[in-house]
Amino acid sequence: MLTVLHDTLYRRGNTPPADVERDDGESGKSAVGINERGRFVRVSKEVRHRAILGVTGAGKTTLAQTLKEVDLHRKRKVVEIEPSLEAKCEGIFMNLPNGDPEMVKILQRDFDLEPRPFKTIAYTPPTQHYLDFIEEFPEMERFFRPIRFTEEEMKQVLTKILPGGPIERMLLRTYLERLEGESLENIIDFLQGDDVPGYMRSTATKIMYIASLGVVSEEGVSLRKVLSGRHASVITFAFVEDPLDRFMCSLIYLTAIYETWKGMSHSTILSFFVADANLFAPSRNKDLLDSLSRYQQRARAQLQIYARISRAQRVAWTLDFQSWQDIDDVVKEQMTERFFKRSWSEEVAKILGLEQSELRRLGKPYAYFHNMRYLQKIKIRPPMSRKAREGQYTPYDFVKEYRRFEDEDATFDI
Ligand SMILES: Nc1ncnc2c1ncn2[C@@H]1O[C@H](COP(=O)(O)OP(=O)(O)OP(=O)(O)O)[C@@H](O)[C@H]1O
Ligand SMILES: [Mg+2]
Repeated sequence: MLTVLHDTLYRRGNTPPADVERDDGESGKSAVGINERGRFVRVSKEVRHRAILGVTGAGKTTLAQTLKEVDLHRKRKVVEIEPSLEAKCEGIFMNLPNGDPEMVKILQRDFDLEPRPFKTIAYTPPTQHYLDFIEEFPEMERFFRPIRFTEEEMKQVLTKILPGGPIERMLLRTYLERLEGESLENIIDFLQGDDVPGYMRSTATKIMYIASLGVVSEEGVSLRKVLSGRHASVITFAFVEDPLDRFMCSLIYLTAIYETWKGMSHSTILSFFVADANLFAPSRNKDLLDSLSRYQQRARAQLQIYARISRAQRVAWTLDFQSWQDIDDVVKEQMTERFFKRSWSEEVAKILGLEQSELRRLGKPYAYFHNMRYLQKIKIRPPMSRKAREGQYTPYDFVKEYRRFEDEDATFDI
């Protein structure tokens, strides 16, 4: 049924008529790609949510990076969060110019653009691992900054991220109001005491876990500051040791960032990138992690709400994930600019009106772009900044690449 509906929606050959393709004189900088007629293709300037999907290595992160550059060019605030279980920090490489010969060729020939860096700062919970990194590489403090996140801020997000029944959450909300100004430690003590129903002990345990993650800190850059400035802000969990803790930290910051933005006055749009978004809003059990499944279900509920109401807050989400079936339907429906990269999915091939083999063979530089009006095959505009290479995406890899680049640069000047 759904497929039939999609079939009519995505009829093949539904490319825009030539007279709709105005060239508004904007340069390749604001283009996300070029279509088969050689025209630049752009994403909307309005607040619209985007989806990027494709198999591992199809080029999702590269395309997301191009979109970040387009958004920065349009003076949006760009924030990225990577809940992936791996300790990646790919975004930081944007501080270097693209050096991939194939991508640079496309950039110059089809878009008349040259490689260049984009100022990007990675923000991290101030864990011991982070402090050790900065002690070893003090010059990296420009690129990697600690986040200030107070107990007060933590208390505000607790009811949004804690799993549990509606009664448990309602009670917690009431207690938090009653205990306003008290420390987290006192709140945990209170929830373990005899004045509250016994089941609140498990709430206390969850809060203890969350408080132990090392995100609470009075030192560092405030979230308001993270959301200000013209640079791209990447929230990284590369300095958080445990993969499951990384997921929890990302859930806390995602919520805190959204809530902080809501409370700020802003004239610009927040472009919020979430990599591996199927971890946040899984549609299927295969993406649920045993010990975190209840938090993930909570995260999904949260993202369903955010995807629906954030237009009014001027927040545009860009979510990437591997398969069209992985993401929750409610969230999916809200994404009205869709990029389909290489995929094995029969369903997606049907949606696009393609032979499955055609979609399976789609080259890395290409994507099908659908904006709910037109479906176009595009050659993607490669990022001007450097994309982290496969298997080289940690802060340590960045140090190596940055130093190498500085050396090359010095040689260049001679
Ligand atoms: N538009 C492009 N033009 C040319 N090469 C590209 C393009 N996009 C990606 N590539 C190449 O493909 C590689 C993999 O891309 P990328 O890391 O973006 O894939 P991914 O889908 O994010 O993979 P993963 O699932 O591992 O995160 C890049 O390192 C780059 O060499
Ligand atoms: Mg990727």
